[in-house]
Amino acid sequence: MDITKLREKFTDIYGDGEDIREYFAPGRVNLIGEHTDYNGGHVFPCALTIGTYGVARKRKDDKLHFYSANLDKDTVVEVSLSDLDYRKQYSWANYPLGVVWAFANKGYTLDQGFDMAIWGNIPNGSGLSSSASLEVLTGVILRDLYGFDGLSMTDLALIGQYSENNFNGCNCGIMDQFAVAMGKKDCAIFLDTSDLSYEYAKIALPDAKIVITNSKVKHSLVDGKYNERREECAKALSQLQEVVDIASLGELDCEAFQRYQSVITDEECRKRAKHAVAENQRTIQAVAALKDNDIAKFGELMNASHVSLRDDYKVSCEEIDILVDLAWQVDGVIGSRITGGGFGGCTVSIVKNDAVDTFMEQVGAGYQKKTGIEAEFYVVEIGDGARRTS
Ligand code: GLA
Repeated sequence: MDITKLREKFTDIYGDGEDIREYFAPGRVNLIGEHTDYNGGHVFPCALTIGTYGVARKRKDDKLHFYSANLDKDTVVEVSLSDLDYRKQYSWANYPLGVVWAFANKGYTLDQGFDMAIWGNIPNGSGLSSSASLEVLTGVILRDLYGFDGLSMTDLALIGQYSENNFNGCNCGIMDQFAVAMGKKDCAIFLDTSDLSYEYAKIALPDAKIVITNSKVKHSLVDGKYNERREECAKALSQLQEVVDIASLGELDCEAFQRYQSVITDEECRKRAKHAVAENQRTIQAVAALKDNDIAKFGELMNASHVSLRDDYKVSCEEIDILVDLAWQVDGVIGSRITGGGFGGCTVSIVKNDAVDTFMEQVGAGYQKKTGIEAEFYVVEIGDGARRTS
């Protein structure tokens, strides 16, 4: 499948006609700064060249039609504009529907429906933001089809997050939608989630590649563990606020955290907060190291991030730890860590050019031997954010 075939599929299903438009929204990988985005900290993601393609056209009636070429069956989900409720049977279509609902909630009501067909090449549940990609894609489509020109890309990211939080039930932060919306070729985004200020940092790695390894262990954030981590951080924050004047964990550095941490009564919550504080500091240091061309330091910080996510934040799993341990053993690996929400999904590694083949062989074989699962590898290209393509 590609965009041309998707367009053909669109006209097969909905009929030919005028003003059929094409769109694309990328997936993302986060280089460092994990579980900091809902703690007022920094993140450092980049948009990928894989993502979600969309074809869409306005309708004359009030029907919304959703079709996905990723499913075997030619099923079209139909919803009326007058009945924008979440329904389990809508399955994946609850993501674009949630965005229509969120637009309406913010005062951007649609006067007519639309037909939409999508196809994506981000592996689902891999932690590379297939849902944020679909949300921001829908936002770009709605803004374009209905002329909501006053909405910025940041607004579309916020609307995507709002719909995921309030329609789809995952209390995610802003990182994924922001990276999908604001991505820039060959750059990572150094985003301060406390005020959404950001700067682009060029990722020029002449001697190395970014390699994503998919554990094929599905991660589902809607099943509660992600929201549980958020609650643990909120609890730790409210106890810290009894002794120090802060609005978020991101306002503390490691030294200040050491000073105040004993007020957090629950040991597990204390560990979660320790991670959030230290990970934010690591992210700031990692971006500084990158600016200094100190890629070895960047790699060490990635490794430390993994240890902290594994031991303190407890969002890794056996298979991911195996992948990271195997990666650390390969000569030429600068750094390797879990990426994304966790509980499965992918790792991200920086690997010297001449070690990439050995990396894939050794990690792939070792992983297969220990788990029986065949890992998948993607050598990353950093792409632009969501957009209309024709
Ligand atoms: C998921 C969420 C993000 C972020 C990451 C962890 O991807 O959607 O908001 O919290 O997990 O860094």
